[in-house]
Amino acid sequence: MQIEFQILRQTPDTAPKLDRFTVEADSSETILSCLNRIKWEQDGSLAFRKNCRNTICGSCSMRINGRSTLACKENIAGEMARLGTASGETPTMTIAPLGNLPVVKDLIVDMKPFWDDLEKVEPYVSTSSRQLPEREFLQSPDERAEFNATGNCILCGACYSECNAKEVNPNFVGPHALAKAQRLLADDRDDRREARLESFDNPDSGVWGCTRCYYCNSVCPMEVSPLDRISEIKGEILDRSTKDDSRPIRHRKVLLELVEEGGWIDERKFSLQVIGNYFKDLQGLLDIAPLGLRMLANGKFPVRFDPSEGSAEVRGLIAAVKAATQATTKAGA
Ligand code: SF4
Ligand code: SF4
Ligand code: FES
Repeated sequence: MQIEFQILRQTPDTAPKLDRFTVEADSSETILSCLNRIKWEQDGSLAFRKNCRNTICGSCSMRINGRSTLACKENIAGEMARLGTASGETPTMTIAPLGNLPVVKDLIVDMKPFWDDLEKVEPYVSTSSRQLPEREFLQSPDERAEFNATGNCILCGACYSECNAKEVNPNFVGPHALAKAQRLLADDRDDRREARLESFDNPDSGVWGCTRCYYCNSVCPMEVSPLDRISEIKGEILDRSTKDDSRPIRHRKVLLELVEEGGWIDERKFSLQVIGNYFKDLQGLLDIAPLGLRMLANGKFPVRFDPSEGSAEVRGLIAAVKAATQATTKAGA
């Protein structure tokens, strides 16, 4: 069958342009195989990375029809199904480089910011303060299973490419780095657990910088589910923190308290308690005062709060989740 490829091509000195190629291929062929065909048979100057051709090395990640993934993993049939291409219609594959990284040429991006961000979480098991064993640090299969999910990361950059937080906040270390961070927290050989938790508890670069958009989970080709790993770190931080420790922590704790209380959030209390820190943060109060006054002037300030219907049911659900979490924690201990 004939397949149209539209490939975004550029160099740091030339504006992006779409080049079009037609490829004769079977629908079971991978996108990488088609790109090889284009390079070998039509335009040898097309630049892209590849290596293992077997979803192992992570080199061939790129945006395929708007989603960052591995070109050696996705095939034409799968993309046609995802795009809803009608039978008889010529499928069009749109290929672009990863996002959030500078383009070197065509589909090749400079991965340096990705590696630099990974380095920020010190992605190595630290045993510096421990006595070195005679042979090696042994681990049971159960202990190893604690980080099975993150162990699958092939550092392809697909999650980083789609990360909304990274797009707007260059300090945020990114989903790949935080998934690795969780792997180190879960590794019983590491001796920097407390220091790591402290550094990940950061509203800008750390876990609280994530906007929970879920994109990293949905694109990760290895099912690392970075957002789930980030949530696990957040859970650990929340368990050992109080509302006085920081605004992000207050945000989570107050939100839960208010929902437990009234079934939904009393926004007046929420802003006063989270941003105003129960009237202890004068700067915070001053920051929200103009918004409150504008809302008041426009008749949008909620002057009263009524608990939602079924708030008892909401309380019951929260209690059930807490009990289930405690049971799981005990079982794992
Ligand atoms: S977490 Fe998934 S998407 Fe992100 S770098 Fe690792 S394998 Fe790739
Ligand atoms: S869930 Fe968080 S880390 Fe994942 S892509 Fe969205 S903002 Fe980035
Ligand atoms: S070429 Fe190695 S993951 Fe695609």
